[in-house]
Amino acid sequence: MKALVLAGGTGSRLRPLTHTMAKQLIPLGNKPVIRYGIEAIVAAGISEIGVVVGGAAHELRDVIGDGSRFGARITYLVQEEALGLAHAVRVARDWLGDEDFLMYLGDNYLPSGIADLVAQYRAERRALVDAWILLAKVEDPTRFGIAELAADGTVARMEEKPAAPVSDLAVVGVYLFTPAVHEAVAAVGPSARGELEITDAVQWLIDSGRTVRGSSVTGYWKDTGTVDDLLEANNAVLEDVERSVRGEVGEGSEVIGRVRIEAGASIVRSRVVGPAVIGADVLVRDSVVGPFTSVADGCRITGSAVRSSLLLEGVRLDGAGPVEGSLLGRHARVAGPGPGTVAQRLVLGEHSSVLLAGDRTRSPQDPPQEGFKGTS
Ligand code: G1P
Repeated sequence: MKALVLAGGTGSRLRPLTHTMAKQLIPLGNKPVIRYGIEAIVAAGISEIGVVVGGAAHELRDVIGDGSRFGARITYLVQEEALGLAHAVRVARDWLGDEDFLMYLGDNYLPSGIADLVAQYRAERRALVDAWILLAKVEDPTRFGIAELAADGTVARMEEKPAAPVSDLAVVGVYLFTPAVHEAVAAVGPSARGELEITDAVQWLIDSGRTVRGSSVTGYWKDTGTVDDLLEANNAVLEDVERSVRGEVGEGSEVIGRVRIEAGASIVRSRVVGPAVIGADVLVRDSVVGPFTSVADGCRITGSAVRSSLLLEGVRLDGAGPVEGSLLGRHARVAGPGPGTVAQRLVLGEHSSVLLAGDRTRSPQDPPQEGFKGTS
């Protein structure tokens, strides 16, 4: 069985970050989200992987490579335009051949993996069916593909982001298909959002009398397509961080709880509160970082406070904060007159530069707030 990983979308809900990078490369706990997916696929015993790429093809190839480091063989399949998930299957038609395959959306995070699902599919394949989808109960079904189950547990109906959902069972971005899906993706036309929806293709299978089975996801699942979902998935990753301090922690600094500090990082007169990860060659000086914060390689945080945030490579915070619930793109810079009392929530694209006006109830001469070590 092959696996098809989809990473060709535009990531419109994560702009401006996705103007310059693929959303599947945004790191959770400092590891690109797509790597969790590829590792889960390999752990499920599938090593022949096709990755459908769009505009960010080069960077995805750079980060993921030929798959050898994961024990996989990766083939890149170019989707010139982001015309939908069913369109991606059309693009991969020749590469997929006439085998069953697993389809995995590259921005989905499922820490408990998919090995059980794939094993069950392999064991029960003959009793099957033409497709098998994974489902999860969600609070807001209007944001997802939704499935309605028949009394016998098969899928009776599927709808993409319905305004009036008939169920709260969302389609998780993991699908198992027999070659019957190729006929379906060839048959569907564009949806209201102008895309060829895989949901419509599965509905087409149902309408043609094929059997589609659904099973519930066990454990945590997150589609990391929005800032809030990314931050939540990052928190879930950080919950599992084990304490490991390889960087330098200078005198007058405190590292509290489950914190991973990579080699080459340096913590000076600061407090890092877990769960948190601090990447290689990061400088944290006169600052408070965490909890629930990922700081990627090469960031520089001075005289600042940051928590519940995701900082991508090379971000600089200088006299800023408290920065909270923020997603800061690569090499973004945030400067301010010193931490105030009002939390700042920022979503910044690559190389953005923001000068915060600061908290006008405080002056830079005021004594530092509790928990903040101040610049010195
Ligand atoms: C896609 C699918 C949707 C599914 C979701 C899961 O939505 O179209 O059916 O529920 O992935 O991650 P998208 O994130 O492309 O809007």
